[in-house]
Amino acid sequence: MPENIDSILSQYSRTLDELIPILQDVQSEFGYIGSELVKKISRYLRISENQIYGVASFYAQFRFTAPGRNSIRVCLGTACHVRGGATLLEMLERGLEITCGETTPDGRFDLERVACLGCCALSPVVQINKNIYSRMTVTKLTELLKVYE
Ligand code: FES
Repeated sequence: MPENIDSILSQYSRTLDELIPILQDVQSEFGYIGSELVKKISRYLRISENQIYGVASFYAQFRFTAPGRNSIRVCLGTACHVRGGATLLEMLERGLEITCGETTPDGRFDLERVACLGCCALSPVVQINKNIYSRMTVTKLTELLKVYE
């Protein structure tokens, strides 16, 4: 159990209003909000762990699993969405057998959707780690994944 969780929690009062800021702080400190951390937060705020997951599920920003070795971000901003971004995301979710915010059991990939990667003229766009891939198709993406171990 990371020790600085206690110092993060001590900055907040024990009210439900503090849940989102606490989750933001914890995620920025640890990279994701592991189950032990959720347990700690639940005890501190005196709410159930399910309540925490329920509230957090409204916010795409929170991760509850460790990131994978490669992070895939699928753009679902307007330009990418109308040019097939959602199809790419569906294909990834089916192929990797995870949903957004999750990591494959082998730790190879994690998957997220983002609002706009700032290169709409190249849509649909997928980012893997620091690389941006433009005008993606299901076929191109399938081939591309093989490059990443
Ligand atoms: S909408 Fe996808 S890059 Fe802007």
